[in-house]
Amino acid sequence: MPTVVSAPARIAALGIYAPEAVLTNADFERRLDTSDEWIVKRTGIRRRHVVAERQHTSDLAIAAIDDLLAHHPKVAIADVDYLIVGSSTPDYAYPSVSAMLQAHYGLPKTVGALDISTACAGFAYGINLACGLIGTGQVRRVLVVVADALTRSVDYTDRSTAVLFGDGGGAALIEYSAKPAIFGMDAGADGNGGKFLYRTGLRTDINGTVDSTRLLRQEGSSVYRWVLENVPHAVERILQRAGMSLDDIDWFVPHSANMRMIEALDKRLPFPFERTLLSVEEYGNTSAVSIPLALVPAVRDGRVRAGQRLLLMGFGGGLVMAGNVIEWR
Ligand code: ACO
Repeated sequence: MPTVVSAPARIAALGIYAPEAVLTNADFERRLDTSDEWIVKRTGIRRRHVVAERQHTSDLAIAAIDDLLAHHPKVAIADVDYLIVGSSTPDYAYPSVSAMLQAHYGLPKTVGALDISTACAGFAYGINLACGLIGTGQVRRVLVVVADALTRSVDYTDRSTAVLFGDGGGAALIEYSAKPAIFGMDAGADGNGGKFLYRTGLRTDINGTVDSTRLLRQEGSSVYRWVLENVPHAVERILQRAGMSLDDIDWFVPHSANMRMIEALDKRLPFPFERTLLSVEEYGNTSAVSIPLALVPAVRDGRVRAGQRLLLMGFGGGLVMAGNVIEWR
């Protein structure tokens, strides 16, 4: 029997934010050779929320943290010991978004501030790292923040990516808890698949081609196949490390990239689609933010109840993946 992986930590508070402006499928029908029917059938997406002209990733992060604080009056931002921010669209290469948050909230200079480049897997990766920091006794409270303004990096002339992405922010306070509530933390990467989903930066050549536009490029069908081949094994590993089986899981919360792909993933696992939490219909693919955008409404409307177990599974650009099991308290 393998050793069960667990952390003396729990999710103590959550917050989310989505910008006000909305792009519907009808808006894309007017701009591109596409249709509401194609988008809904292939992706499940109906709307996406997009940043305003002067709204950046740090603003989305702050709005999500403010939402967390508004919903949890007993949580004080001053109690946070460490900030982890997952984003693939930070305002700057540096300063980091986490350092900007430290300054915005006037947190002490002793607060750790770490940005992670884990694309759509940022929420699960961030929670797993927070578990390590708390588990080793370095800190008691880590604020894991995810924020992405992916529409800033989308090529609006390319119908195969333009219709997919939206913007938002999410925040989770991970707190020390003598009784472990986070299990089976697992992470991985497959850099050979990086060429299927990339945005160039200081270096503009990738896989033998030069792309100086620095816009998001995706070979959707290759990523789709990669997800269906690799994510079921990752789920198996998480469950094994948690000492659980799929029957112990009440809710599956995968990265909401594409509803059709998640339906296929559920069939492979197998796991009931009705117990899978998704945010893709209202928000599109919001990268690292898609998991909190699916999870928080379900917590707030009472679908997720104390004692239930959720399997979070992130995957995306890199290609990278990470997951864990959360026992809800
Ligand atoms: N409207 C109409 N037709 C379209 C559109 C559109 N918006 N986009 C593509 N098409 C066409 C293509 O041009 C192609 O036409 P052709 O057959 O004449 O050449 C046809 O539709 C099929 O194209 P595919 O790319 O094979 O379509 P597919 O069914 O694979 O759907 C999609 C594309 C939605 C992108 C899908 O592959 C997918 O969701 N992949 C996974 C994405 C993902 O999970 N990403 C990872 C996380 S994201 C991150 O990390 C940032």
